[in-house]
Amino acid sequence: MRYALFADIHSNLEAFRAVREEFKRVRIDEYICLGDIVGYAANPNECIQLVKELGPITIIAGNHDWASVGKTDIDYFNPIAKEAILWTQSKLTEENKRFLADLPLTKEFTDFVIVHGSLYSPEKWHYIFTFQDAKRNFAYQKKRICFLAHSHQPFIISSDKRGNCEEVMGMKVSLRDDYRYLVNIGSVGQPRDGDPDASYCLYDRDNKEIEIKRVSYQLKEAQDKIIAAGLPQELAWRLSLGR
Ligand SMILES: [Fe+2]
Repeated sequence: MRYALFADIHSNLEAFRAVREEFKRVRIDEYICLGDIVGYAANPNECIQLVKELGPITIIAGNHDWASVGKTDIDYFNPIAKEAILWTQSKLTEENKRFLADLPLTKEFTDFVIVHGSLYSPEKWHYIFTFQDAKRNFAYQKKRICFLAHSHQPFIISSDKRGNCEEVMGMKVSLRDDYRYLVNIGSVGQPRDGDPDASYCLYDRDNKEIEIKRVSYQLKEAQDKIIAAGLPQELAWRLSLGR
């Protein structure tokens, strides 16, 4: 069984199209979207449509998805993110608003769990940046693997039986039976780890392997659309930097 997991598309159609093309080149049995389909870039409805067309698929909510339909307070959003949310609200179809509003916060599978922010308070959209954050998440993690997103910075962290955490280097890991794993799958549409390429994750359950993959795309096209839409220009510039 091979899963393709992706998140934080953020209305960047060009990035998501490139990732979808990559999916066609590898055998995928099931798709999983960890939220933030919309927010920031210029194609919210088109990205929702493309996500829906993948199948079989499981989708959970991100903070921008719920913010776009008034289910999450945008007072804590920075001014640029807030402006993009208000723009997105004005563009979403009624059908897509209902679709985003109905997305759940978490979902459990036999050997893993998915959440956008953190298992300890999914509805508060906390970020996991440090080992301390990771340890707190492991305390709530009953399954062998937790896949999450939200920070747009991919990582793989392992935890041994005693709770010692270690970051896996190289963005690829062969799973050990007595370890648990916390995996941030990165962002399709607005990476923030210094690499502008779109990020997604492959989980091969039979071969016990997890890998974070990167895909380059025509980011100039996405940037031009952001500017033409009247969205804040910084949202276009940052795509080149991967920040
Ligand atoms: Fe996000």
